[in-house]
Parts: sequence; structure tokens; C-alpha cells
Amino acid sequence: MKVIVCENAAAVGRVSADLVAADIKAKEGKYVLGLATGSTPLPLYGELIARHRAGELCFANVTSFNLDEYYPIAPNHDQSYYYFMWLNLFAHINICLRRTNVLNGLATDPKAECKAYEKRIKAEGGIDLQVLGIGGNGHIAFNEPGSGPKSRTRVVKLDEKTRKDNSRFFNNKIEDVPTHALSMGIGTIFEARKNILLATGGYKGEAIVSSVLEPPTPKVPASLLQDHPDVAFLIDTDCAKAFLAKTNDGKKLPKGVTLEIVQ
Ligand code: PGA
Repeated sequence: MKVIVCENAAAVGRVSADLVAADIKAKEGKYVLGLATGSTPLPLYGELIARHRAGELCFANVTSFNLDEYYPIAPNHDQSYYYFMWLNLFAHINICLRRTNVLNGLATDPKAECKAYEKRIKAEGGIDLQVLGIGGNGHIAFNEPGSGPKSRTRVVKLDEKTRKDNSRFFNNKIEDVPTHALSMGIGTIFEARKNILLATGGYKGEAIVSSVLEPPTPKVPASLLQDHPDVAFLIDTDCAKAFLAKTNDGKKLPKGVTLEIVQ
């Protein structure tokens, strides 16, 4: 596991875009990119769009799979993750919309939708690189604490806390926040050939400490990535403070963890 400390959120965006762009360019033919929503990946998406506009990055061979979607929600609802992706990335790059996959928040049979999503990922040859965010409680996608390492794409009931936190995006009306979500599982995420987790801001610092420095446990879903063969956590200096303090500025790192500081 690699921890990469970048100066600020914009630098996390640049460095993660370098990784994504290099990976896309290194693979001939079809490329499968796993995407995340939330405020953290926005600088990354801004960089990808800028590089595409500059003629440096082509998405014609890219198929994408998003981590999760509210349930129930219409794709054209302004808080749906499909709409988020369209607004912040898909509308601005040359990805073929038919090759963008977001779980259907209006599926009449949500369990069948989740099963079919897993099948589609397999049929595409698996995810080459998955972008992840992290919650303050260590969740990844909608895998809240308690989600097991073998969990697959499934229907999840949202914690009341998560619904309350997210009600700010629904005019502060908690009753408007969907009660459930469809989410890739930890097992699904783990199968991506590479995972990059982005975190910015001091309030994510403790989640990074538990995910990287403490033994893996379903109580902190992101900690389950420790056993992944190719995973990098890209964090900004605010987020890194607690981690650097606990590791004596990176001099005392657990086995298997490397630290890189990007100037
Ligand atoms: P955020 O969400 O990027 O908006 O902080 C991340 C997450 O909860 O996974």
C-alpha cells in the first residue's frame, strides 16, 4: 500500500489524474475505469476534462462503472449519481455514453440489477483502475462499517446518519433522501486491478490512520484494502497530519506501507 501526500486538494487531483491517464495510455484497446462520486474526486475530473480538451487524453476506448447509486432515484434527479457523473465528467469528454455504467436507481428488481452489474463488470474483463473516496467513518462506496470483505454489489439500507448528512443536498429534507442505495461490495472493489483512494481535509485524517495503520477490520471498510496488491491512498497535507504524527513523519511505517511526499 502506497500513501502519497500532496500539497492540497488540487494537487491530489493532478497526481491522481497522472495515474489514471498513464494507466489508460499504457493499455492497448479496451480500458475499464471505476468511478466515484462526492466532492473529493471533482479536482480529478476537472484535470481529466482539461487533459482531454488539450488533446492529451482520449476516452474513446474507455468503459466506466460507477461505485453506487441511491435507490430509489430517477437518473435525471439532480442528486442522482448518474446526473452527477454526466454533469461533472461524461458531458465533457469523448466517452461513449453507452459504455458508462451506473446502477439503475429505478430498477424494478434491484437485486437482479446488482447481479447484472457484476456480470457486466466480468464481461468487460474486470475493472482496470477504481477511483475511491472515503467517509469519515471509513466507508467506501455505500459499504458502511460492518460490510464484509466478500460483499458484492447489493442493495444496502442507508444509515440514518448518512441520510442526515446527505440531507444537505436534498434541501435539508431528510424525508427526501432515499432510504436505500445500490452499491458495489468490498469484494467487487477488491477485484479491481488497481485502486486509488482519494481523501482531502483534516476531518478524514482519523479514517486514514485507522485504514492504513490499524489491522484490517470490517469496522473500517477502507482498511480491508490493505491486502490489495496495488492500492494507493492520495491525501492532502491537512488529511495527512494525523497520519504523519502517528508515524513520526513517516519514519515508522508498518510493513508493506510506503510513503511518498509530492512537492
Ligand atoms: P466526499 O464523499 O468526497 O463528498 O467527502 C466521500 C464518501 O463519502 O465516500
